[in-house]
This record gives sequence, C-alpha cells and structure tokens, in this order.
Amino acid sequence: MRNRLFWIVPLLLLAALALAACPAPPPPASQGGGAQEAAATESTELNLLCTPQVQWCEGMKAEFEKKYPNITVNFVRMSSGESLTRLRNEKDNPQFDIWWGGPVDSFIAAKQEGLLQAYDSPNMANIKDPDLMKDADNYWAGVYIGSLGFATNKNFLEENPGVEPPRSWDDLLKPEFKGQLMVAHPSSSGTSYTALCTILQIKGEDAGWEFLKKYAGQVLQFTKSGAAPAKFVGQGEAAVGIVFSHDIVAEIEKGSPLVLSFPEEGTGYEIGGMGIIAGAKHLDAAKKWFDWALEPETQELGPKYEAYQAPTVKGAKASRPELLEVNLIDYDFQWCGEHKKEFVDKFTNEIAGAENLKK
Ligand code: G6P
Repeated sequence: MRNRLFWIVPLLLLAALALAACPAPPPPASQGGGAQEAAATESTELNLLCTPQVQWCEGMKAEFEKKYPNITVNFVRMSSGESLTRLRNEKDNPQFDIWWGGPVDSFIAAKQEGLLQAYDSPNMANIKDPDLMKDADNYWAGVYIGSLGFATNKNFLEENPGVEPPRSWDDLLKPEFKGQLMVAHPSSSGTSYTALCTILQIKGEDAGWEFLKKYAGQVLQFTKSGAAPAKFVGQGEAAVGIVFSHDIVAEIEKGSPLVLSFPEEGTGYEIGGMGIIAGAKHLDAAKKWFDWALEPETQELGPKYEAYQAPTVKGAKASRPELLEVNLIDYDFQWCGEHKKEFVDKFTNEIAGAENLKK
C-alpha cells in the first residue's frame, strides 16, 4: 500500500501541471465565440440597385453609412424596366444585393422570375396595410406611395388662351396637345408602365389599347426615366408631362413653371417596392438596409432629398398628404405585375418601339 502511494502522488501532480499548461478550449458559441465569428464575416459593402431620383439615392446612401459606418453603399440608379432586364441578365451571378424603389409591379414580375429572395424582416410589422403594401410571401415590401398626375407648362397655357390643363385621361387626346405630350417609355420606366396599366384598368383592355394608340400618337418623345418629362416640360420642350405627382412637386419647388392637375375620373398610383436579390453576396448588409428602410424615421427622410412620396409605415408623417387625397383607382398591382412583360411587349411591338426614345 505504501509503495503504491509513493508512485501515485507524483503522477497526479504531473497530470495537474500538464493540464494547467494546456490552452483553454474556445468558449462555446453561446458564450461569445459566435459573436466573434460573425464580426469577422460581416459585410463591409452593400450593392444597391436604386430606382428613385438620384438625389434621394445619394441621400439614403449617406444616411445608411452614417448609421453603419463599417458598410460602404455602392449604388447604381436605374429605371424600373432597365433594372429588371439587368437582374435577368445577372441571374446566375448577381451583382446587386438589394433593389430599393420603383413601382411594385416590377417586383411582382421579379418574384415570378425567381430574381428575389424572401426576407421576413421584424419591421414588416410597421407596415400600415400589409395586405396591400407587402408581398404575402415576404419577397418585397412597400417603402413609399405616389399618385400619377399631369404637369402642364404655364407659359404654354399663357400663349394658348382657352387651353386648360388636362383634367381627364381623354383630355390628353385633345388636338391642342398633338405632339405636345411627354411620357417615359413603358419598357424602361415604371412610371410609364403605371400610366399604361391605369388606362387598361379604367377603360378595360380593348378600349384601353385603342386609347393607348391615340395617346402614343400625341407624344412628342418618350423618355427613358419616368420623372424626366417633368423637367423637359418645365423647360418648355413640350406642353404636358405624365409623371408621378411628387416629381412634379419637386420640379415646382425648384422654380419650374408647371401646373399640377389630376384626371378626375381616377388616377393610378405606385407603391414603391424593395426586395433582396436572389443570391445576394452581402446578405447581412442587405437585411440591415431592408430593416432600416421600414423604420418611420427613415421614411421621413424623403423631403430632405426632394422626394415627396408618402410613407408606408406607421408613425411616419406624409410631407404632402394632398397628393394622395385625389381620386385613386383601386389599382391591381398583382394583375399589372403578372402581365408586365406581355403588356410592355404589346406596347413596344404594336404601338411605339424603343426607337422612339428620346436620345
Ligand atoms: C421617380 C419617382 C419614383 C418612381 C420612379 C420610377 O424616381 O420619384 O417615385 O418610383 O420614378 O422610376 P422609372 O424611371 O422607372 O419610372
């Protein structure tokens, strides 16, 4: 017995010393190891496809970078139709992480084509009217609302006594507006597609396409971006522009001689969308943007950057509530989104091809 103890005591001492010399194993994830790992892989970049006016895109980039100083936002401003084409072409190797802005018809089309991925942001709960303003499967969320209006050049009205700003869709066909309308082309612009789909809903498909033929016959030139006609009409290049009313207000604020009017029988409106791109390379940063864009403070930033769209989330105030206090049609976003390619192709092939675009 004594002999055995003689060996065991030094052996135990040696084992204790060896254990003390070993490095401690890493703590389990729940004790902080997971957080360290996440920090190491957090994205420092976000590639944003931005469809609203460039001033607002720039402003949002700056505001987001202020909140997340470790993330640089790289954005490209592109109209809705151009954006869809770009996303289709990059489907196998997506360059953008998130798409922010532009009417949701295009987001509905993008979801159908597998170009977006679902994200159930905790801030979806902020959305005022979830049945209307977000996708049922969380592929897109609404971030703003805007109504279509007409912008008429005041000097044109003064030079043509008796001519009134249009107050119905049919007024656009009056002889005094022949060669005097400006609108974007629906293949590139979501604004113009909203006008096209509004007409089809108000008049019905058959009468709507007949009307669209005559309406296209009144157009001087089709622009690429939806808001551009407000600028050109302000400069006197044409008499009337068909544009979102907040873009007309933004031009008036800058001193453009424009009168804003609405079609009294009803006008279409947009819900500006947002969605994460399928296969986004900076998914964590895209989710941060998505959550942030659905906060009331973020949605109140618009007017700081000349954007007067109404917010979609509770607790955010509209800067120009009167722009939605007009006769709005019960715009069917789903129908317009699902038929977008078909209607744009029909317009392009049968009414006005892209060669009519303003250079
Ligand atoms: C302007 C408007 C936005 C709209 C966008 C659509 O920027 O301010 O409210 O969503 O146009 O752009 P697009 O060029 O596709 O008509």
